[in-house]
Amino acid sequence: MKYLYVANWKMNISFNESISFCENNSKDLQQLTQNNIQLIICPSFVALASITALLKNSAISIGAQNCSAYESGAYTGEVSVLSLAQIGVTHCIVGHSEQRMYHHETTEQIINKIKLLYKYNITPILCIGETKENFLNNQTFTTLTQQLEPILHAIQQEKHPIIIAYEPVWAIGTGIIPEPEQLTTMFAWLFNLINLSISHNNIPLLYGGSINHQNIASLKRIPHIDGFLIGGASTNFEELKQIITLSH
Ligand code: PGA
Repeated sequence: MKYLYVANWKMNISFNESISFCENNSKDLQQLTQNNIQLIICPSFVALASITALLKNSAISIGAQNCSAYESGAYTGEVSVLSLAQIGVTHCIVGHSEQRMYHHETTEQIINKIKLLYKYNITPILCIGETKENFLNNQTFTTLTQQLEPILHAIQQEKHPIIIAYEPVWAIGTGIIPEPEQLTTMFAWLFNLINLSISHNNIPLLYGGSINHQNIASLKRIPHIDGFLIGGASTNFEELKQIITLSH
């Protein structure tokens, strides 16, 4: 399995900045994807078509940050999975805590999105994670089970791939990351839960939340972590490059 790095640019950089990032660093970006590394860049919707065209001949994959839970129709402001597939998007983030929090994305919608993504051969990157309140009330495992089980059940028979990113909400954008012992426990638990539910698939597990070039080496040592979902730090090419090269 390739080691995965997902660059989630969120709404942190503009259309022009997204294009410049790819144009200015195209050679270096190619080099980063050697040595069994897969890099998936997730720009905002408006930059997706230009960036898939710009990086067409590279090994870099392009992911969307979200998609509609409906196939087509009168859904003002939404972007369909079909349109994403038509422009060459290969991955799509679903269930990100910012969508769950600010747009009340539900498990039912996440399942609909995953099924549509499968229909159009796009790989979902499912994000899960407990809030600080859940964590402080010892509800981490209950929360993650509630988030994961209905989805795992819905895709049990699927042969399509899925990537699962564990992102504690309290670690996102805060500069705080869980202790290595905590992450070791979490990933062993997730690995077992997922493999008990879905036996036919090798599902890559990612960690996300406040990753930077200073903490990547210790994160890389944790068993069952197959890659990383990087937010803020991925919008700076030198930082992203350091994260990837330091962890290999
Ligand atoms: P961060 O975001 O790296 O800026 O903490 C991670 C994410 O939300 O995907």
